[in-house]
Amino acid sequence: MANKYVTVTAPVNIATLKYWGKRDRFLNLPTNSSISVTLSQDDLKTTTSVCYSKNFESDALYLNGNEESLSSPRQQSCLKLLRKCRIEKEEQDPSLDKIASLPLHIVSVNNFPTAAGLASSAAGYAAMVYSIAKLYQLDLDRSELSKIARQGSGSACRSLYGGFVAWEMGSLDNGSDSKAVQIAPRAHWPGIRAAILVVSAAKKEVPSTGGMQLTVKTSDLFDYRVKQVVPARYEEMKKAILAKDFGVFAELTMKDSNSFHAVCLDSYPPIFYMNDTSKRIVKVITTINEAYGRNVAAYTFDAGPNAVIYYEEKDEDIVLGTLHEFFGSVPGWAKKSGKSFSVPRKFP
Ligand code: ADP
Ligand code: DP6
Ligand code: CO
Repeated sequence: MANKYVTVTAPVNIATLKYWGKRDRFLNLPTNSSISVTLSQDDLKTTTSVCYSKNFESDALYLNGNEESLSSPRQQSCLKLLRKCRIEKEEQDPSLDKIASLPLHIVSVNNFPTAAGLASSAAGYAAMVYSIAKLYQLDLDRSELSKIARQGSGSACRSLYGGFVAWEMGSLDNGSDSKAVQIAPRAHWPGIRAAILVVSAAKKEVPSTGGMQLTVKTSDLFDYRVKQVVPARYEEMKKAILAKDFGVFAELTMKDSNSFHAVCLDSYPPIFYMNDTSKRIVKVITTINEAYGRNVAAYTFDAGPNAVIYYEEKDEDIVLGTLHEFFGSVPGWAKKSGKSFSVPRKFP
């Protein structure tokens, strides 16, 4: 039996309505539905190769050149689910090679900072699940793959789709209805752009998993966010995306970033993901929007200080020009993002 490998890439997605809180931490079931935009793979992406061999001693993961543990329950859930599907396939078709029990080596590289609040776990687990499913030649659709990726990292379920994506929280205890769905493809709103402002590439002090557990346990505001704020915002944001109403989309996106960082601050002890530079970015975007009397741009911050700015192509000169003015020389800032969806920029 020949060794075989496959290589895939997976994009980052940046939430505009944040997932923050689990109702089941083993199955990675969220306390609220969320919405995100999948970025172009021209810019931020994970590339993962996976290979099986009877000569490997055990499964192994190499991330950005270093061997990492592959023993976490979430990594193991993904591997077990994919192997189970391959075993079923081999049982149905005895002519297939028996590869499900062979050790796997997974080699993955992120072309952007890992664990810094730029959704590396999303692209990383999406790529891992997709690559193994391809290696095993599984006949799983994107929805099924999204449920497996969800068990690795919640946000990863959304990276299985391009464009505008929702993660429906579902209501079943076994998680079979907690999956990603596409709200609209990228082509629906081709004029939308994202600029990534890398404030710090350092690994975050509080990983997302632990951070949201602390918030669920200790924040008084959290219950209000989940019950009173997010459900209506989820519907409004979907509507704004379908109507391509950037003004409303931008307002909801900024409000939800604020709300997420508010529940982080309300955790005990408090969690600070944004730093002084992040706050200056909020101020600059707010100032641009006030100056133009409309929402020209929207900021959003994940669990880290780095900003993602959404804007429309027609306003690119205003947005990037102003950021350049305030924050000095930004390498590559003058590059027009004609073809590209996201424009990563070193910042400041
Ligand atoms: P981020 O904000 O970057 O998503 P998280 O704290 O959610 O940060 O997750 C970071 C973790 O995700 C890493 O420590 C690693 O365990 C996992 N991860 C990141 N990239 C990959 C990848 N390419 N393949 C597998 N796992 C990855
Ligand atoms: C702030 O998906 O990284 O980026 O499920 O524990 O791996 P785990 O958490 P993760 O959390 C993402 C949080 C967020 C918001 C979002 O992407 O929706
Ligand atoms: Co993450």
